[in-house]
Amino acid sequence: MTLYSRITGTGSYLPPRRVSNDELAQELAGRGIETSNEWIVERTGIHARHFVADGVNSSDLALEACRHALEAAGRSAAEVDLIIVATSTPDMVFPSSAAILQHKLGIAGCPAFDVQAVCSGFVYALTVADAMVRTGAAKCALVVGAEVFSRILDFNDRTTCVLFGDGAGAVVLEASDTPGILASDLHADGSHVGILCVPGHVSGGQVLGTPLLHMDGQAVFKLAVRVLEEAARATLAKAGKTEADIDWLIPHQANIRIMHGTAKKLKLGLDKVIVTVHEHGNTSAASIPLALDSAVRDGKVRTGDTVMLEGVGGGFTWGAVLLNL
Ligand code: UT7
Repeated sequence: MTLYSRITGTGSYLPPRRVSNDELAQELAGRGIETSNEWIVERTGIHARHFVADGVNSSDLALEACRHALEAAGRSAAEVDLIIVATSTPDMVFPSSAAILQHKLGIAGCPAFDVQAVCSGFVYALTVADAMVRTGAAKCALVVGAEVFSRILDFNDRTTCVLFGDGAGAVVLEASDTPGILASDLHADGSHVGILCVPGHVSGGQVLGTPLLHMDGQAVFKLAVRVLEEAARATLAKAGKTEADIDWLIPHQANIRIMHGTAKKLKLGLDKVIVTVHEHGNTSAASIPLALDSAVRDGKVRTGDTVMLEGVGGGFTWGAVLLNL
């Protein structure tokens, strides 16, 4: 019998502090930085983002998202035999946020590790988990995207600090005799390291270089639209499907213009694109599972639907996963 992996539950969590564009613009004005709700909405589609309180880390957000996902799947933490967390803002340099999450879930023993592929992290993590489930290495995996990007934002740089937020999303991925994950396609091109990075690192007890996010927005924008189309087509080809088979496109939630551009290239109606960026901004690895969970809970995306997940971000990294929910 062929072994497949299938998503059996989704969950997400946004920290309670919701910061509207107007509130952020007011805060930035106090620093002499000019921005506006109109600019942010028109250029990105973002209306608000959520920021964590002091002392709250990625694993805390991940824990809440996992609790919701486990509940939706009808599983207990004790049944989990693999944890993969996609994050670029881990709790510590080491150990992994996945190991910390495992302890917070009250379990021990199963493999737990982080995947670092920035905004493509969730599709990378899901692909790794799928491979492990299909080889029999795991039967019930938690795959999580969790970020606290507010900690790495330069609030003196209006071109980036209005774009990002904090949050987490999770899925339970289980072994199944019917196909869930149909195909995936992952890529990286390190020659673009400089257009989206946090260049600092820890050395001798100090941070060397800047530990804040730097992005050349226009360069990222152009690359993103191109590679998202390519990844979607490659994934469809691997699965023996066409654009017409896609019920829902759930792209990385960074900018509504990128999402609409991708849909147009794939000849998909905008009503087939799940958009949640307005509510949480760019939450990097958390954005896809946040959008997926929101769409499932809204009753839009249903069991049996064919869904294309697409991530793109720092590295440069990009990829897609096609699945039947
Ligand atoms: O998560 C990984 C994926 N990341 C992304 O997908 C991000 C991709 N990039 C983008 O989404 C867009 O490039 C941005 C939203 C970052 C910027 O939008 P844009 O349409 O490319 O704007 P721009 O950089 O061309 O800037 C246009 C103008 C500039 O002013 P001038 O030079 O025309 O006078 C900027 O200085 O807008 C100005 N500007 C702002 N104005 C008000 C830049 N940021 C702001 C701001 N508020 N926050």
